[in-house]
Amino acid sequence: MYEVKKLVKKFDKVKVLKEIDLDIKEGEKIVIIGPSGSGKSTLLRCLGRLESPTSGKIYFDNKDITKIHNTHEIGMVFQSFNLFENLTVLENITLAPIKTKLLNKKEAIKKAREYLKQIKLEDKENNYPADLSGGQKQRVAIIRALMTNPKVILFDEPTSALDREMIEEVLNLMEDVAKEGITMIVVTHELNFASNFATKVIFMDEGKILESGSPKELFNNPKTERLKEFLKG
Ligand SMILES: Nc1ncnc2c1ncn2[C@@H]1O[C@H](COP(=O)(O)OP(=O)(O)OP(=O)(O)O)[C@@H](O)[C@H]1O
Ligand SMILES: [Mg+2]
Repeated sequence: MYEVKKLVKKFDKVKVLKEIDLDIKEGEKIVIIGPSGSGKSTLLRCLGRLESPTSGKIYFDNKDITKIHNTHEIGMVFQSFNLFENLTVLENITLAPIKTKLLNKKEAIKKAREYLKQIKLEDKENNYPADLSGGQKQRVAIIRALMTNPKVILFDEPTSALDREMIEEVLNLMEDVAKEGITMIVVTHELNFASNFATKVIFMDEGKILESGSPKELFNNPKTERLKEFLKG
């Protein structure tokens, strides 16, 4: 699905991503871990086409998307939810599919209500994001991402702004989404979740992928000192 070749991203003169090579197959559940500043968000933003690479190539389903922006095939969920505060829950969820003409208004509302029911927020459709808890906001952000039928969803620390009891409800919804077979790439510090969820874990350090493999390989048998240190916390 994704083929990343020698991806470099510089901010000013600082190389934040250093020739990243990465292959991601359809249906994979990738978890990216690594210390603060190692380039996890920058990599995700490049994959999501929110950031243009300085050099290198990104292919998505064999299409060169290095320079193309905006595709509904790639969904994103952020740490800070990024819901529109001036729109109701229902408006937030139906905005993109209507705007991109993927669904008409009636279809979008029907689909949105099904999803709201699934996350048990059907009575909140006319509320504004400010009325919701952090966990509820994040679950709305996830179903919003699903509304455009993306082939892949990129999650950047989706639970790190949440209290413990809300983290579980968001992680559970992510597990449900995973069962649909959709490809997911998740930056997270939740290592327990990572070890149950991931088909592959990627450890980044200083703009490079230092190790990648199954959760068992990385968590039980780290090869580099950097990963050993990181796992000790
Ligand atoms: N827009 C930007 N302009 C300049 N520097 C940036 C920009 N975005 C990120 N950086 C720098 O790039 C480096 C990698 O940042 P990035 O946000 O990708 O790290 P991260 O691994 O996601 O860290 P964290 O775990 O703290 O979220 C950092 O040194 C950061 O300061
Ligand atoms: Mg980050």
